[in-house]
Amino acid sequence: MRKVKIFDTTLRDGEQTPGVNLSIEEKLTIAKNLEELNVDIIEAGFAIASQADFDAIKEVAKTIKKCKVASLARATEKDIDRAWDAVKEAKYPRIHTFIATSDIHMKYKLKMSEDEVYNQAVEMVKYAKSKGCEVQFSCEDASRTRPEFLYRVLEGVIDAGAIVVNIPDTVGFTYPEEFYEIVKGIKENVPNIDKAEIAVHCHNDLGLATANALAAIRAGAAQIECTVNGLGERAGNTAIEELAMTLKVRPEGYGVECGINHSKIYHVSKTVSKLTGVDIQPNKAVVGDNAFAHESGIHQHGVLENSSTYEIMTPESIGRAKNKLVFGKHSGKHAFKDKLIELGYELSEEKIDDIFKKFKKLTDIKKEILDEDIESLALGGLRTVEK
Ligand code: KIV
Ligand code: ZN
Repeated sequence: MRKVKIFDTTLRDGEQTPGVNLSIEEKLTIAKNLEELNVDIIEAGFAIASQADFDAIKEVAKTIKKCKVASLARATEKDIDRAWDAVKEAKYPRIHTFIATSDIHMKYKLKMSEDEVYNQAVEMVKYAKSKGCEVQFSCEDASRTRPEFLYRVLEGVIDAGAIVVNIPDTVGFTYPEEFYEIVKGIKENVPNIDKAEIAVHCHNDLGLATANALAAIRAGAAQIECTVNGLGERAGNTAIEELAMTLKVRPEGYGVECGINHSKIYHVSKTVSKLTGVDIQPNKAVVGDNAFAHESGIHQHGVLENSSTYEIMTPESIGRAKNKLVFGKHSGKHAFKDKLIELGYELSEEKIDDIFKKFKKLTDIKKEILDEDIESLALGGLRTVEK
């Protein structure tokens, strides 16, 4: 099976999540977690952004041995010098340089013409290459870039020495079928594309980041940029746990694998949430509190008989404890009876019927019924019978 590389940008784009500011120690802890998760490349930060970020990247570069370590740099000599100083002690250093290529960014942000942007991209890739390490180049806002200009820039930077060309959907505007065509168009129209790998970096403004990354894989993308828990600028990026589990659960859909160590997913997700201070939404795919919780009676009955009735992956496969049955107004008698037995109450059918009626009444006034509630119902039930 073809392997796609995972480029993790939790420590760079993920740190651009509003309110997140990681210390050097916190970045180092997350980097070690990412190494255990077995990502291929860690983008440790944006070296020119601050002294603290520079120091953190340097520390990550010195410590991490199994993954490549990258720093982001705008396409300027000053940024590239700083990025190189930060990553040069890494076992496998990479400079990731970028410039915007869409009309809207060139006109309003850069105030540069296409030729000026082209020349700067090519010259700065050559400059980064002169440091002696791998160079990745990104066309910021690639998905809104005029295709002919995108092809021209990509051809130029590959000739200049970029070994990875990244196609960001910077504002999360693209839909999967369209993104597939963009990547396919690059493969068909950039003459030297075989000399580089195509990467994609998808934002989640419309909730399509993972779907877009998967569409790009189908079109031949070789590197996917992700973050843990989907953190990142605005609505975030492709979530590493969603991508990795989709490729594992539905290999026939994509025909590729990534090297992610699935059993570490839950631990890494929790660690990142704790250190960034960003809670995981309860219904978040794969790692949310409710991702393996079952509330309705029909579902509870099903999973008690065989978990595959309502679970497409096991919680254990991502390093979580077993599924949980949540008792509420949709819960059925089957699961309720099992719960009573688990709590140590072996009761007659008649008594169970009686307690179950009381339990249903309780669900009208209480959203989630805890074990203690069921215990006191069971005790009350016994007392009622004893009278
Ligand atoms: O979203 C984006 O375009 C980026 C680039 C710098 C890769 O984060
Ligand atoms: Zn981004």
